[in-house]
Amino acid sequence: MTKYIVQGGKPLFGEVEISGAKNAAVAIIPAALLVDGVCRIENIPQISDVTLCLKILEGLGAGIRSINRHTVEIDCSRIHSTRTNYDMSRKIRASYYLIGSLLGRFGEAEVAMPGGCNFGGVRPIDQHVKGFAALGAKVSVEGGFIHASVGDHRLKGTNIYLDVVSVGATMNIMMAAVMAEGITVIENAAKEPHIVDLANFLNSMGANIRGAGTDTIKIHGVERLRGGSYAIIPDQIEAGTYMAAVAATGGQVLVKNIIPKHMDCITAKLVEMGVEVEENEDTLLVRRTGKLQKTNIKTLPYPGFPTDMQPQITTVLSLAEGTSLVTEGVWGSRYRYVDELKRMGANIQVDDKTAVVEGVDHLTGAPIQAYDLRAGAALVIAALAAHGRSEITQVQYIERGYEDIISKLRALGADIRSEEEPEEASAANVG
Ligand code: EPU
Repeated sequence: MTKYIVQGGKPLFGEVEISGAKNAAVAIIPAALLVDGVCRIENIPQISDVTLCLKILEGLGAGIRSINRHTVEIDCSRIHSTRTNYDMSRKIRASYYLIGSLLGRFGEAEVAMPGGCNFGGVRPIDQHVKGFAALGAKVSVEGGFIHASVGDHRLKGTNIYLDVVSVGATMNIMMAAVMAEGITVIENAAKEPHIVDLANFLNSMGANIRGAGTDTIKIHGVERLRGGSYAIIPDQIEAGTYMAAVAATGGQVLVKNIIPKHMDCITAKLVEMGVEVEENEDTLLVRRTGKLQKTNIKTLPYPGFPTDMQPQITTVLSLAEGTSLVTEGVWGSRYRYVDELKRMGANIQVDDKTAVVEGVDHLTGAPIQAYDLRAGAALVIAALAAHGRSEITQVQYIERGYEDIISKLRALGADIRSEEEPEEASAANVG
């Protein structure tokens, strides 16, 4: 097991290059199963969730060829199975996209119930299932696998109204519907940048999807998708995490390779807190010199403030002057990390979906544990800003979604390194 050792209290200075978007990549890689030919995908982030997605596809018979660190060619012209490896697919949440893509191409899918980050509370997939059923598939759970099949028929386009705005259900239904007979309309669809990215990927392979990025998406079914080349968008949340890190530590960092429009919801809040943000074509210059100010934040589906930035921004607010209110509006609960921040001296009270954050003068380094990906990122930010030394365990969660986080932060002047933990110590931590 690896842990991070951080000596905090150093402001960050320099430039950081943002990688491809995790939540786009983990959908676009499974979507390659829909394509009868070779897809060349560029700007793929080097993170463990992506590695796992590629391995699952390989197990189904896909040819995977690495062109360079961020480019792969995926050839799904000789898929020999529609049943995914149980142990691999249950490890990641995004394995649910394999249901939509396998069902859409082969009319059948068997995928282990998805796993992924558990930030407390349930993560249902009833809206995905509702969509597949509306398209004509039978869906059941057998032996830990979700089994979806349309039998001898073809999926049939229809109108699907989502009862909750769901990123995963929107993308999964889009994949299943891409080669369905006729027209599918998804209403109350999610609008996140990665939804537009998936639609653009599929369209560049021959699909006919209109309206992605609005709440109504219209999909005209096509006969087949052919190969092509596509580059994944930059990661909004990775960029936001580095912006939050500069806000917490002070300093000045140029965040490169981003789409500024995607950052508006995060930029607006940081500016309210007294952080200076200067926007250019594909960069943001982030500077914090003065005191941080309190603000209130509610997480919402895009274009609202993203839930995947909630732990990081709460950490920054724990160092702001005054009392801030943070309300989680997407997930039932996402505050497990708050107990770890309290070990560092933060003053935060959580009541159901709301955190009352009373700013403190400084945090103090401590041994802390990551419970999920974004909580882990928040603890890295806290440790970078804190006085003294922190040790962060369970960092495998962080590495699911942040490419080269140690070297990117070190290049900004942070004193952070990773260290292998002896087996017995790791076991003791987990308990
Ligand atoms: N929901 C349902 N039924 C469903 C699906 C969702 O009730 O069938 C509810 C959820 O319980 C939640 C809300 O709808 O309250 C939104 O869930 P959504 O489906 O949008 O989330 P997801 O697709 O499972 C993705 C990201 C998450 C991110 C959310 C929200 C991936 C692999 N995961 O999850 O990312 O928090 O969208 O933006 O794309 C992360 O990257 O750290 C992460 C957890």
